[in-house]
Parts: sequence; C-alpha cells; structure tokens
Amino acid sequence: MCGIVGYVGPQQAQGVVIEGLRRLEYRGYDSAGIALVHDEQLVTDKRAGKLANLEKALAEQPLPASTTGIGHTRWATHGAPTDRNAHPHLGRDGRVAVIHNGIIENFAELRAELESAGHEMRSDTDTEVAAHLLEQEVEDGADLTTAMQRVCRRLTGAFTLVAVDAAEPDRVVAARRNSPLVVGLGDGENFLGSDVAAFIEHTREALELGQDQVVTLTRDGVAVSTFEGEAAEGKPYHVDWDLSAAEKGGFDWFMRKEIFEQPHAVADALLGRRDADGKLQLDEVRMSVDELRSIDKIIIVGCGTAFYAGLVAKYAIEHWTRIPCEVELSHEFRYRDPILTRTTLVVAISQSGETADTLMAIRHAREQHSKVLAICNTNGSTIPRESDAVIYTHAGPEIGVASTKGFTTQLIANYLLGLYLAQVRGSMFGDEIAKVTTELEGMPAAVQRVLDGADELYALAGRMRDARSVLFLGRHAGYPVALEGALKLKELAYLHAEGFAAGELKHGPIALIEPGLPVFCVVPPQGRDFLHDKMVSAIQEIRARGARTIVLAEEDDESVAAYADEMLRLPRVSTLLQPLLAVLPLQLFACELATQLGHDVDQPRNLAKSVTVE
Ligand code: M6R
Repeated sequence: MCGIVGYVGPQQAQGVVIEGLRRLEYRGYDSAGIALVHDEQLVTDKRAGKLANLEKALAEQPLPASTTGIGHTRWATHGAPTDRNAHPHLGRDGRVAVIHNGIIENFAELRAELESAGHEMRSDTDTEVAAHLLEQEVEDGADLTTAMQRVCRRLTGAFTLVAVDAAEPDRVVAARRNSPLVVGLGDGENFLGSDVAAFIEHTREALELGQDQVVTLTRDGVAVSTFEGEAAEGKPYHVDWDLSAAEKGGFDWFMRKEIFEQPHAVADALLGRRDADGKLQLDEVRMSVDELRSIDKIIIVGCGTAFYAGLVAKYAIEHWTRIPCEVELSHEFRYRDPILTRTTLVVAISQSGETADTLMAIRHAREQHSKVLAICNTNGSTIPRESDAVIYTHAGPEIGVASTKGFTTQLIANYLLGLYLAQVRGSMFGDEIAKVTTELEGMPAAVQRVLDGADELYALAGRMRDARSVLFLGRHAGYPVALEGALKLKELAYLHAEGFAAGELKHGPIALIEPGLPVFCVVPPQGRDFLHDKMVSAIQEIRARGARTIVLAEEDDESVAAYADEMLRLPRVSTLLQPLLAVLPLQLFACELATQLGHDVDQPRNLAKSVTVE
C-alpha cells in the first residue's frame, strides 16, 4: 500500500525516484507523483493511474534537473484516485511538498483549523493538512527537521511522511509512526523507501528506523531523532539479496517466478536449523527454555494467506506439542478482548512484517504481558521488531501480490516451531522429531517434482477458462489448502471461489453443487489415515450430483481415480506436511488462469501487497 521514495545525492533525482517507484509498484497503487527541488523552487507532476501515465507526462513535459526528490505511488484511502488527490501535496505557498503513507486520523479537525485560518485545501486527502502545517512551521522560522517533529506531535494515526522544502535544497526529511520506512545508505548519496526494493540497485546497506522517529537525509549524512527532538539511532543492516531477486528473471510475472523459486525458498527456510548432534536449534527465537516450557496456550494471528498458514500450523503444533492452539484473524483477535496471560504465546505470521491489523494485534498481546513470536520474511520490518522473538522465513523478496513462497516458507517456520517446542518440552521422542525433520529436509525435492508438472496445470487452466465459480474441498490440514486455493483464484482470476472443509459439505454447501461445477478436492495421504476414506466418500457424493472433480491425490492412490474428472498427482508425504505440496498446483492454476483471462497477475485490482492501514 503506497510506495515512498526519497533521494538526495549527485544523480538526477527524477531517474532514481521513478525507478524506485517502479520497484515498489508491486505494493499496489492507483496514482503516482513526484516532487523535485530545483533552483530553490519545487517542481511536481502527479497522475492518476499507473506509473506509465506519470512517465508519459514527464516525457512530454520534462521537469528541470534536480538532485533532490521524493516520489509516491498512492493507494487511495481519503479521496478518489484522481490527479488532484495524487501525492505530493503542497503547502499553501508551494514551498513544502509532502508524500504520505497511512491515515492521519485527526485530519478533519486539523483541516477545520487550517481552513478557519484561511488555508484553502486543494484535495480531498488527509495528507494535505500535513503539507500546510509543515509549511507554516518553516515559514515561521523552523528548519524542516524541527517542523517535522512539531507536526508529527500533533498527528494521530499511522503515517510515514516525507517532505522537501524549496528553501533547503539538499535535504529530505521523513518521519514514521506505524507505517513502513527504510533508509538506504549510499556513498555521498542517501535514499528512502517503503522497503529496500526502492533503492536495492544503488545500495544494500540499510538503516531500520524505530517507532516515532524523524530522519533527515543530506548527501553526506543521515540524522535520526525522536518526535520530541532528541537524538536517536537507527539500526544498520545489510540486505542479503540483490537486484536480480527484485527482477522477473525471464518470467512473465513475479508470481510465476516466485512459485518456481519455492524449492530454493523452502531449502533456505530450513537451512542451519540443526546442530552438530542433529537436534533442532532456532537461534532467532530469543526466548529461554524456561519461558518456552511455561507456555500453556498458543494463539496464532495473521491475515489472508498468513492466516491459512496458521490454520495448517494448528494441526501440527497441537499434535506435536499437546499445547492448545487457536488461530485467529488479526483484526478479529484485536477487538474481541481475547484471554491472554503471561503464559500465552502469540505467534504472528506476516510475510511483509508491516500488516497493520497484525501489528495492532501483537501490540495488544504485549500490553497484556503475553509473549509474541513473529514468523516473518522481511528483515527490518515492524512486526519482528516489536516482537519478543522471531523466526525469519528467508524466502527472499516476494513481489507478486499473491503470496506463494511466503506461504510455503511460513509453513516450514511453523513446523520448525512446533518441533522445537516439542523438543524443549519433551512431548516427542528425539527420534520422532528427527524423522519429521528429515522428511522436511526432503521437501525441496518434492516441491520441485510438483512444479515439474506445471504444464498439466496450464492445460487445465485452458480448459477452465469459462468457469464462473469454483469450489475447493479439503479435510484436516488439507482444509486450509482449500481455503488458500480459493483465495488465489479470487484475487487473481476475479472468480467466485470458495473453500470448504469436506465434512461440512452435507451441512449446506452441497446445495451449490450442480452439473459441471468445478471442484478441486485435496485428498489426504492413504495408509492408516482414516481421513482419506472420508474424503473419497465426499468426492463420490459431489460427483453423483454432477460436479466436475479435479482431484489432488498421492501418486499411487488409485482408490479415487474412478471419481476424478481430472487427476493431479502429489508425491507421497505425511498428512501434516502435505499442504506444502498440495498448495502448489493451486498456485500454478490460479496464476495461469488469470494470465489466460488477461489479468494483471502481479498487481490484481484493488489489492495492495503490504496492507499498512487497519
Ligand atoms: O504480509 P502479510 O503476510 O501480513 O500479508 C497478509 C495478507 O495481506 C496476504 O497474505 C494476502 O492475503 C495475499 N494477497 C494473499 O495472496
């Protein structure tokens, strides 16, 4: 949601800013704009629609040369996505330009105050009040940093603000509260971005900012302070991926590239998790053995795909640790007064580490003295920073809006957490833990085998281009896979799609079955697993009513073939690990169907990659 770029240095700022915005396009947006400082004046351009519209306008009417600039891609909250509401916004006299991510909750009262003092607003946004307030401060004699500190003290809500002042040409000042912002540290130049993708082609040295901090960028330095004006420090870190990870590498979509990265991503998520004796070690979990032993309840929170990863985790964690485990959508958890104690462990799953709903949930949990462990993919992001412990998923940047390798590596992190808790608490024997860990270590190869069958899924998508509604069925750990398969289809192909627990069919959803309706069915592994036979019965029931069954089953499972219109084979694994494989055909199918329908797979309509507002 909203992309932010800032630059000060020797290069032409326009090129750096536009390139940065391009790399942030994946976050989701509906207008774009830029402001440069030139000859002690501000020059701006901003356009509704895609970045290409802004670039076209800049090509037709170039802005003058400048080495200081800010740029923005806006995901509309207050005011329609028009040229007028696009950022940057200027103060009354056009001296200060501001871009913003988040929501200024008290903007109405600030706007009324400004209007009664004679300020005329030129947009419907909450952002514009910040531009007027900042400009008022600098016109009253404050430097831009001091002005930012003073204005931020007056704002409530979530915001990243970035500003330039025409009278201070080589300076960009920014502030963050509950909204992402990272500094890129260059040599004689410095950068700002909503995330490191904005400047990864210029530097891999970054500075993490804390909550309620202001940062001032010049060519030669970066100074951090609090909103109260006291000196503060950011936390430097090295970005462990490079430009190639932020490019499509020959694929048509980032999503497709990320699907095919999963064998590596899963391997990286597992890397270095066993010590010389083969025992699990999770160094990143900064909680003592005593703390881990005292846990008597686990609550997993997340949104969208991360929530579904949590649903899978519940089956595994409860089975292995015998600790009661609940899973809840972050936004529901936060506002229902959940029962939390010092011995509750809240596990927050978030690929981006910036999802506002999940951030608010963990803050609430910590206020109630519960411990919070984050499962996150993004180094330097807010959720792990505000958690007591973290397991990083090491998937590399996920740029496609639809989460793929984010999901599978979240599953790995959850499996590792469950097994580690079992090891610490003695709820499983060492050889049992070793057996599952060894099976996990075989998953990258199994993932690759499923992906090798991609052409079959592409052909299936071709045959299903006319589908108007698609159902997904699963049982046990396959149930969240059904939900995830449906979510992928909704967000990418804009189709009605629903996932159900197969056991629930007879309680209502079976009424939806009509001749020809496509239903994906995730069949649990065979063997001693009674779930398998119940799932096969469910498939027979819908087939008898005319459903077109697309069955995902183990490669040597012949019991179900007679009821399958389409058969998709999965390598043999244990029930709890099967979601890692069963989700892959559903990702490939959704990506391909959306492609064939002509949709923008990486930036589906109305969606943002990082949902940074509640
Ligand atoms: O960054 P997060 O994992 O916290 O994001 C959570 C959801 O917004 C995300 O999984 C979303 O549902 C994806 N678009 C699903 O593909």
